[in-house]
Amino acid sequence: MAPLPLLAAAVIAVVALGSVGAYAAAGQEQEAGGGNDLRQPPVARGLSFDFYRQSCPRAESIVRDFVRDAVSKDVGLAAGLLRLHFHDCFVQGCDASVLLDGSATGPGEQQAKPNLTLRPSAFKAINDIGDRLERECRGAVVSCSDILALAARDSVVASGGPEYRVPLGRRDSPRFATAQDVLSGLPPPSSNVPSLLDVLRKIGLDATDLVALSGGHTVGLGHCTSFDDRLFPRPDPTMSPDFLGRLKRTCPAKGTDARTVLDVRTPNVFDNKYYVNLVNREGLFVSDQDLFTNATTRPIVERFARSQNDFFDQFGVSMVKMGQIKVLTGDQGQVRRNCSARNPGTADGLQWSSLVHTVVDAAAESLGF
Ligand code: HEM
Repeated sequence: MAPLPLLAAAVIAVVALGSVGAYAAAGQEQEAGGGNDLRQPPVARGLSFDFYRQSCPRAESIVRDFVRDAVSKDVGLAAGLLRLHFHDCFVQGCDASVLLDGSATGPGEQQAKPNLTLRPSAFKAINDIGDRLERECRGAVVSCSDILALAARDSVVASGGPEYRVPLGRRDSPRFATAQDVLSGLPPPSSNVPSLLDVLRKIGLDATDLVALSGGHTVGLGHCTSFDDRLFPRPDPTMSPDFLGRLKRTCPAKGTDARTVLDVRTPNVFDNKYYVNLVNREGLFVSDQDLFTNATTRPIVERFARSQNDFFDQFGVSMVKMGQIKVLTGDQGQVRRNCSARNPGTADGLQWSSLVHTVVDAAAESLGF
């Protein structure tokens, strides 16, 4: 048996080696994450930070320049692009399926209720960026799902938010999701924290991700109909009376067709004021304010309200996680030439199995089964 001091030295050496290894790996991740510390999430298999180095080396700067210029003319576009990426990733993964227009086979993902308030200007911007990239890189090289991920990040940066690096190499789906998939993937604004966490858990996200990603509500607008059940028939007691008065001026009756800012303090700046609002009971949706009411998420809200740096670091980490949900890579899916339509010649929105079921069901029905 090795003498005790020798054994202890060996243990210390192994522990030290282990931590050097972890540190080195974290160091690389840190560089990749642009200033985030050890918590940079792993990069999904098939994605990389330099995916377009050979095929379209200027891809990132083309997206960045476009978004910066477009957001300087229409500040709301930043919110539109950020939300579009979120709605893509939470439903069927980040595969640009939300961009597919409906088809003869039925209404598309876009026609599902939560997607009706996505901004047309954001869809147009993605197509315009796609055209620019196709000209620059001689063909459809950069996927629509990568364009979405980059445009969301650049919208955050253009609004004053954190820089983070986006792993690239996603492929696009030829198939959009059903309305039912959209409804189960995107929780309604009336959701409380436990039900939000149920949805997020299924796609590999946790309570810290929920609080950080909800910070996307530091920019943009919401319709009265998304929160007026907090005003009528009785005011939600978790809402500050001043804020209630303000919202009632914008939405004097249930069902008013008007919009208001999500972040009452700094509506167009990407900062941590969203959390300051929550602490002051000025969150717009139940899904926002409950982050402060709930005992699990409240300390995270308080931390982000105190420290914008903490929020920015975590937002970058959580966006990279969100941006890698169920990605298609390698020879899966396709790189769409037109982000609004699957490439000509690829199988249509219905999968064979469901097509066969539909035909069999119809036949059974006509035979009176
Ligand atoms: C956690 C669950 C979430 C719920 C329940 C939710 C709900 C909503 C609702 C209801 C609206 C307003 C729609 C309208 O009335 O027009 C909205 C807007 C918005 N959401 Fe979320 N959201 C969630 C998470 C996120 C995430 C993760 C992000 C991005 C990281 C995000 C970014 C945005 C942005 C930027 C807007 C403003 C869009 C615009 O002005 O066009 N949301 N959200």
